[in-house]
Amino acid sequence: MKLFVDSGNVNDIASLVPLGIIDGVTTNPSLLAKAGGEPRVVLKEICQTVKGPVSAEVVATDVTGMVREGRELAGIDEHIVVKVPFGKPGVQACGTLANEGIRVNVTLVFSATQALLAAKAGATFVSPFVGRLDDIATSGMELISQIVDIYENYEFGTEVLVASVRGPIHIVQAGRLGADVCTCPPAVIEALFKHPLTDIGLEKFLADWEKAQAAKG
Ligand code: E4P
Repeated sequence: MKLFVDSGNVNDIASLVPLGIIDGVTTNPSLLAKAGGEPRVVLKEICQTVKGPVSAEVVATDVTGMVREGRELAGIDEHIVVKVPFGKPGVQACGTLANEGIRVNVTLVFSATQALLAAKAGATFVSPFVGRLDDIATSGMELISQIVDIYENYEFGTEVLVASVRGPIHIVQAGRLGADVCTCPPAVIEALFKHPLTDIGLEKFLADWEKAQAAKG
């Protein structure tokens, strides 16, 4: 499973990259607004930091605008993946951009039929939002399961990118279902490293070692 960082904060991303477990980054207009700075400059910095797919979302709402903005975003860096919101304009723009060889991530996906259409339009990634579905008492992971099944049945090349991840359990569940990618806020990636038994175990190993060294004199 690929792990992406869901953030527009270059420092947060840069602190995780040396761990060697980060495969890419996803941003959205809210994350880039929170990060501050000139979005295109920030996106370029992120691309140079992670050297993997970096999703950058269009803010145009019509097909012509999405395609124009998508081409501009793709021109920032070879690692940019253009993100378009699901809908008729997004699906049409996805097809146009994909035909030009530009990778597209169809975002704001909340149903299996939306994911099916994104795959038919040639999306490289589809982003179902599990956390936002859980928030309204609907199983986000059931949606992932449906999409993985449908994509397998028809051998679509589109990768299932689990978005709106809220905690490590989402990553476990996504992995069991065979999702291709999880994009996680930095805090969730930090949480993957933590287990109290690891800390207690290491403390005991080191204490026993020290005791043995002291006994030797
Ligand atoms: C990433 O592609 C999505 O935009 C992001 O995961 C949404 O997360 P949120 O639901 O926590 O805002």
